[in-house]
Amino acid sequence: MFFDVKTLALANLALQMLLVIMVSSASYLAKKRDLKRHCAFIRVLVIVQIIAIAVVMLPSMLGYIENPPGFNTEMLIHHTFGLAVIALWLYINLSFGKAWMPHNLRTVMRLAFVLWILAFLLGLHMYALIYL
Ligand code: HEM
Repeated sequence: MFFDVKTLALANLALQMLLVIMVSSASYLAKKRDLKRHCAFIRVLVIVQIIAIAVVMLPSMLGYIENPPGFNTEMLIHHTFGLAVIALWLYINLSFGKAWMPHNLRTVMRLAFVLWILAFLLGLHMYALIYL
């Protein structure tokens, strides 16, 4: 393979750092009431994230299910939070502008943001445990 596992993990870590910076900027846009750009920006960021999950993190997770690394609870929480962000993003997108859109969509988005940051911090810690 062109990349070894460690290089791939490092590249993914760099991408995740970039995504966290960008999702923070996108949330700032919402605070500034630039909602059109906020919405378009986040739609793209989550699609990039879904690709990173499918290409890098899911195969890696399947490997760790076969050979548990010893921090299974942390890994489980990381995956749950990460997948919850995707589920919330789907919910936000599907409900946005519809009659059944919840009144507290802002709270749902704040929750998605907090879960994203927590999943990232856990991922960072797991990376340190595995590779440093
Ligand atoms: C994971 C996905 C998302 C995250 C983390 C997120 C995050 C946020 C945050 C932090 C706010 C600011 C709330 C505040 O004022 O404190 C916000 C507001 C907003 N976002 Fe998102 N957002 C996401 C997805 C989306 C999508 C896909 C759309 C468009 C369909 C969207 C449209 C809006 C709108 C319209 C507001 C203003 C809501 C209001 O003030 O009532 N967001 N979002």
